[in-house]
Amino acid sequence: MNPPYAIFVTSLGGPEVLQAGPIDMPVAGPGQVVIEHSAIAVNYVDIYLRAGQPHGHNPEPPFVPGISAVGRVLEVGAGVSDLQVGDRITYANAGVGCYCTHVAIPADRAVKVPAALDDIRVAAGLLRALTAQYLLKQMRPMAAGETVLVHAAAGGVGQLLVQWAKRLGLKVIATVGSDAKVITAHELGADAVINYRTQDFVAEVARITGGEGVSVVYDSVGHDTFTGSLACLAPKGLAINYGTASGHVENFSLQTLHARSLWVCRPTLRTYIAKRADLLAMCEEVFALLADKTIRLDIAALLPLLRAGKAHSLLESRSTQGAIVLLPATS
Ligand SMILES: NC(=O)c1ccc[n+]([C@@H]2O[C@H](COP(=O)([O-])OP(=O)(O)OC[C@H]3O[C@@H](n4cnc5c(N)ncnc54)[C@H](OP(=O)(O)O)[C@@H]3O)[C@@H](O)[C@H]2O)c1
Repeated sequence: MNPPYAIFVTSLGGPEVLQAGPIDMPVAGPGQVVIEHSAIAVNYVDIYLRAGQPHGHNPEPPFVPGISAVGRVLEVGAGVSDLQVGDRITYANAGVGCYCTHVAIPADRAVKVPAALDDIRVAAGLLRALTAQYLLKQMRPMAAGETVLVHAAAGGVGQLLVQWAKRLGLKVIATVGSDAKVITAHELGADAVINYRTQDFVAEVARITGGEGVSVVYDSVGHDTFTGSLACLAPKGLAINYGTASGHVENFSLQTLHARSLWVCRPTLRTYIAKRADLLAMCEEVFALLADKTIRLDIAALLPLLRAGKAHSLLESRSTQGAIVLLPATS
């Protein structure tokens, strides 16, 4: 077993502020389980919090970043009846930092992983697929044949959104930031793909839809795209700003929505999985999706946990397609 250690955000800043340090072996308090991690997800929110981008509940340094991981139960606290030592579990948004070898989490945040799924695919996909689930299936009922716009479609969440939307019978217009990603978005099944670094995506969406616009925009880019996203909507359309990879949407006037009765929303997965019953129901659906080998989720990089800084540099560079996973047991 590894001597316990964690990666700390030592001060707010670039990837270099991520530094390893020893931790005490956690002890399971009442209602908790201690997990030994096997695979740790790198999500874009880890970057927002490391850099100090306001995100509702920013922790003060030093803190351990990371919100989703996979591991085995090492110890079960008093009052926990549905988990046993040795169970393979995963979690997202458990209120603890997960860039570490061992952690104690509330047992009611842990979900057992089906045998058909490997640790890396679950770490790469759990939080992203839960996000795609609520975005596509809970935010607004969609009828087959409706058209949606997915930004950053070759990214971790984007890959799953495109494929799931196609399974729901939607027409998908995808935007991506490089020619290599254009190829990926086509392979994922997008009906039309726009490189928004070289093409005017608003004009392209108007051309592709014959001026009708799209029913929903899934916008994880934020600052650089959101005004354009609104312009891509059909009357009564919905723009969902679910991420801020390019920065926050600022100086937004509600009057922008008036002329075409548009809707906007700025949701977070935390709300959708706050109740355990919802978490379990969504995980059941997400595990089935991830177990389907025809669903593609690229692993952009597999890195030792000690190289968390490299993982952040890669994700911020916009060069990755798919998800990055950190492995605590390798060096
Ligand atoms: N609200 C929620 O519930 C929720 C839950 C999970 C994730 N998210 C959000 O979902 C998004 C995707 O997360 P992910 O972890 O899978 O990341 P990702 O999509 O793999 O990576 C972010 C992508 O954003 C695009 N991008 C555009 N402008 C950028 C800029 N200025 N800097 C960096 N990237 C830029 C890049 O793709 P291109 O090169 O194609 O432009 C980049 O690859 C993030 O915004 C995250 O915050 C939200």
